[in-house]
Amino acid sequence: MKVLAISASARKNGNTKILLETVLTPLREAGARAELIELAGTNPKGCKACFVCIKNKDGTCAIKDDIVNECVEKMTSADAILLGSPTYFADVSTEMKAVIDRCGMVGRANGDLYKRKLGAAVVAVRRAGSIHAFDTMNHFFQISQMIIVGSSYWNIGIGREKGEVAGDDEGMKTMRDLGENMAWLLQKIKA
Ligand SMILES: Cc1cc2nc3c(=O)[nH]c(=O)nc-3n(C[C@H](O)[C@H](O)[C@H](O)COP(=O)(O)O)c2cc1C
Repeated sequence: MKVLAISASARKNGNTKILLETVLTPLREAGARAELIELAGTNPKGCKACFVCIKNKDGTCAIKDDIVNECVEKMTSADAILLGSPTYFADVSTEMKAVIDRCGMVGRANGDLYKRKLGAAVVAVRRAGSIHAFDTMNHFFQISQMIIVGSSYWNIGIGREKGEVAGDDEGMKTMRDLGENMAWLLQKIKA
């Protein structure tokens, strides 16, 4: 069982990473190999609509000088993908949007690379707009023919400063429940 988590905060070791690590804990306990990538500081570029991925169909994005092709490769080899973003103006961060657009287009260009993998989104938020960001990431899973795993609430954690989200008891429980549900389903699929 391989799980990939992508944290798209613009700052390292922030609330989004804490939420994702909390989801990964029960997954690791269940025996999953989990990796977390932080996009902070990597400046992934946006899709330039060149459609070279559709022409070449070689499983890569034509923009070679940033982290996105590594994301495509790791998403392709994972059984489950967790996407995490802070809420920026009621939506995902620029980093997450770049990953969605470019990994999404490469996936579609190559016969739906992420088809039937498990997916879940988590969102860090100070106050409002998290559900819209959550929806943005779920749209990626749905058009990629992925299977979305749920939890005991929508997967949001509340906090502003780095680390504050750890004090959101319900948010943290939601993350643990999500990790347990994903581990349960992965074990069934991989049995
Ligand atoms: C550019 C920017 C826009 C933000 N927009 C919102 C927003 O629309 N709603 C909100 O509740 N918080 C907003 N925030 C606060 C962050 O979502 C919040 O601090 C979150 O915990 C950051 O997660 P991180 O620690 O992983 O970076 C914004 C922060 C930044 C830097």
